[in-house]
Amino acid sequence: MIAKLEDVVVEIKGVTVLRGVNLEVREGEAVALIGRNGAGKTTTIKTIMGLLRPKSGRVYLLDEDVTQKPAHERANMGIGYVPEGRRIIPDLTALENLEIAYGGKVPEDLLEWVLQFVPDLKRFLDRKGLYLSGGEQQMLAIARGLIRKPKLLLLDEPLEGLAPKITAIVTKTLKQIRDEGFSMLISESGIVKRLEGLATKAYGIDRGEIVYEGSLEGILSDEKARSRIWGV
Ligand SMILES: Nc1ncnc2c1ncn2[C@@H]1O[C@H](COP(=O)(O)OP(=O)(O)O)[C@@H](O)[C@H]1O
Ligand SMILES: [Mg+2]
Repeated sequence: MIAKLEDVVVEIKGVTVLRGVNLEVREGEAVALIGRNGAGKTTTIKTIMGLLRPKSGRVYLLDEDVTQKPAHERANMGIGYVPEGRRIIPDLTALENLEIAYGGKVPEDLLEWVLQFVPDLKRFLDRKGLYLSGGEQQMLAIARGLIRKPKLLLLDEPLEGLAPKITAIVTKTLKQIRDEGFSMLISESGIVKRLEGLATKAYGIDRGEIVYEGSLEGILSDEKARSRIWGV
């Protein structure tokens, strides 16, 4: 297994935010994590990355218990992170943003490898983050997440705030990455349709609890998931 959370409880400032989360990403899977704002998606992703430490429960990466491992060690194990809101450095060019993530000059063949997934990036490699559109920023954020060829890519609401046309392009890119055998966890605030054809499995989360586990399509007809996530 690539990643696994076992009975994970996370507290932030004394408030319980995750209440015993169990979740698994297997090799080659694109797993969706669906829940409305405040449900605990970002907290779940940060806990896998090691940016938050559980109060109880275990985190496993590549079959190893990493509960006590810091984020940089997890990154070195092959975990890539595409944070919510993209977090592109505005004063640096797209290429410089990639260099920061890589930790030095990006070798030509590696850059080519990344560009096969996000070919449009070639057009704006020399442009500052400040001047990139939302879609361009997301492409760059994905490229940055891929730059160390991670075994698992964690994507926090990668489709948020994008126009439908751009959403389709980003989804296609993620499909391509999945088809190359990379595993990913993708959070989404509620529009299940956006992940059609991409997610091979889905979890529903509400108020820090996993309320659904199954196929992506199944979440829409699951009574518990529907009432907890969409209130219908
Ligand atoms: N830094 C923080 N300080 C206080 N509460 C927080 C903080 N981060 C998250 N929370 C709380 O934790 C819950 C889950 O947040 P989050 O994981 O960001 O949800 P999501 O990503 O699904 O929108 C929310 O109720 C939020 O208010
Ligand atoms: Mg979030």
